[in-house]
Amino acid sequence: MMPQRTLSPTAAPISFWDLIGAARGLWGGDKHRARLVEELKEKFSAREVFLVSSGKAALTVILKALAASSGRRRVIVPAYTCFSVPSAIVRAGLDVVLCDVEPDTLDFNFAELEGLINEEVLCVVPTHLFGRPADVDRVKRLCEGTGVVVVEDAAQAMGGQSGGRLLGTLGDVAFFSLGRGKNLTCGTGGVILARSLPVVEAIKVEYATLPEAPRGEVARNWLEMVIMRLFIHPLLYWLPAGLPFLRLGETTFDTDYPLYRMDEVRVHQLRGWERRLALANQERAARAGWLIDGLDLPRRGIKPITGKESIYLRLPVMVRDREMKETVCRQSREVGAGMSPSYPATIQEIPELAGRLVSRKYAGAQEVVDRLVTLPTHQFVTEVDRLKIGRILGSREIGSVSVKAESHKTADSAP
Ligand SMILES: Cc1ncc(COP(=O)(O)O)c(C=O)c1O
Repeated sequence: MMPQRTLSPTAAPISFWDLIGAARGLWGGDKHRARLVEELKEKFSAREVFLVSSGKAALTVILKALAASSGRRRVIVPAYTCFSVPSAIVRAGLDVVLCDVEPDTLDFNFAELEGLINEEVLCVVPTHLFGRPADVDRVKRLCEGTGVVVVEDAAQAMGGQSGGRLLGTLGDVAFFSLGRGKNLTCGTGGVILARSLPVVEAIKVEYATLPEAPRGEVARNWLEMVIMRLFIHPLLYWLPAGLPFLRLGETTFDTDYPLYRMDEVRVHQLRGWERRLALANQERAARAGWLIDGLDLPRRGIKPITGKESIYLRLPVMVRDREMKETVCRQSREVGAGMSPSYPATIQEIPELAGRLVSRKYAGAQEVVDRLVTLPTHQFVTEVDRLKIGRILGSREIGSVSVKAESHKTADSAP
């Protein structure tokens, strides 16, 4: 790739000063961790909060804790989600059960979900993909009286709301990811929010078995954050984006990830998290509205997947078909427009899960794989980028497509 302005698909803001200050955590101490736990407990009305090394580590701990006192083994997840989710289920020694998704919402196909809930199911994992709120209340109604636990996957939705309630407060237990492309980041990190006493007690037992992260791993994460902070800028991102061995943006199924408590350096990096998170989410929602309105997407035959209170970690849009998606993503790579295909396959197609899943097709999830493209909404996206994105989405090579225009709710302020 040639040096040129290049956007990353997503970018969580963090200042160099926050990073420099965080290095002090290398010399240990525990008081910041306790303070962060208290802040999160208060903000998310949680009975207890646990800080761990990643979102998948958070899910693994939750699942192991729930399974410790239950003979149930099945975990229901959307057939289109991050590959880390089935990785965590397998790592916890449990069985992945897939439920198809609705391409219009990326949420569960609820008719199918209802048929999957039985006495062998340990939990269901509704997921706020790209910051769009999933209907957790509906999942809870289906699970009522069945003994099935609702684990809210808010990995991509920290700071978002549904019906005025914060995401992460809707399920029986919830988790956030603080990975690099998320709403708030400390490199890698995860937060568990537990509400009921039995769940808190079960997670405490599991959490007590987690070791502290080794010093070398802590230092490596910090260094990666400094490098990321430098190269995430659109003037420099062409460099890492052009190095295939970095495998940026790749989604992998991997069960061999670290399970640690969150260290003090990561905790330090999260100082001022509430302000930073609110600002980043506001900017993203505003840019999503500005992209939808400014690009007139529905008229171009491109359907944004909106949601009343969506915070748009990225803006998901459905293009005409697989061919158009591939063309759009290729052209975006060529000009550094930051558009991304998101997950490359349904969970059913992950080779490592062959033989572990019921053999069938997931038409909704497959449609999402074939047609979904995400547009960047982060703080570095400017008018120049919007024009680039517009040219790609309406370019002659792709041709015009005709579908009925649909109404959509957007934020009205342009950044
Ligand atoms: C929906 C979803 N769940 C879980 C995870 C796992 O989080 P982490 O990458 O912090 O392990 C991710 C990460 O991208 C995610 O997008």
